[in-house]
Amino acid sequence: MKHLLSIESLTRDNIEAILELAAKMKTMRGCLDAHPLKHRCWALIFTKSSTRTRVSFEVGIRELGGDVLFLNANDIQLGRGEPIKDTARVLGRMIHGAVIRTYAQQDVVDFANYSGLPTINALTDEEHPCQILADLQTIREKLGKIDGKVVTFIGDGACNVPVSWMWAAAKLDFQLRIAAPKPYQPDAALLAKLNTRNVTVTEDLSAAAEGADVLYTDVWVSMGKEEEAAYRMAQLGNYQINSELVSRAKPGALVMHCLPAYRGKEITDEVLEAHANTIFTQAENRLHAQKAILSLLARH
Ligand code: CP
Ligand code: NVA
Repeated sequence: MKHLLSIESLTRDNIEAILELAAKMKTMRGCLDAHPLKHRCWALIFTKSSTRTRVSFEVGIRELGGDVLFLNANDIQLGRGEPIKDTARVLGRMIHGAVIRTYAQQDVVDFANYSGLPTINALTDEEHPCQILADLQTIREKLGKIDGKVVTFIGDGACNVPVSWMWAAAKLDFQLRIAAPKPYQPDAALLAKLNTRNVTVTEDLSAAAEGADVLYTDVWVSMGKEEEAAYRMAQLGNYQINSELVSRAKPGALVMHCLPAYRGKEITDEVLEAHANTIFTQAENRLHAQKAILSLLARH
């Protein structure tokens, strides 16, 4: 593994290796002597806002012995139009790795290619791989395993988080049900590319929640989609995790949210607070999963 650009580009063995090391990172936090990023400086280049991703990478890189530069894309020449391939070639001669949050997946791919540096996708419009790896770690901790489970995603089924979930379902042995209104369902080309029976798509959220082991949601208005907010609210208005929907899932089902959450929109306050332990464990596991990713990339 030289980069972590998407779940699509990972093998099942890559995912297993990350999750195994992530569990070890969590148990051994503060006790590990190994500093695989010693004398290495990583840059975080972010075009979009972030709390969890930024802090977990900054802390994780430091805990692994490395140094870190946070570069808001608007503060460097990238924000004034310098091409990503030029930025990549400059940073490739100065730093040792990059974590990128931006819009186009192609920008992360181009950065990786032109810089020659290990590169991590910290969220694009297309995928959010680090989130899903932390979520898989959380499900393993809470339910023992992901194999054989039913995960139901409710809401905007075409954005980065559900797309990464779909690729995870295509690589692992669990069922993913996407419940979304027609305009927010994954497109046919993606479903064909997934080439799996593990993913089903429906408008019927009650049926999708029936007997599920996990109910998962994400914001209705992703970063960069703010101009569509009113239309999205109208289209996605019923696709909410509330107590009635939770009662349809398996008793003891997990409720998960990548955060930030908008209470009264994609999830009610009551449900979020009742499942806060799981949801904030997801956030914590970003740190452990990403330390595992960084360590594996440092071995390359
Ligand atoms: N879940 C997630 O990526 O959160 P941030 O946007 O705060 O990084
Ligand atoms: N789909 C959301 C995820 C936030 C972590 C977004 O892209 O804004």
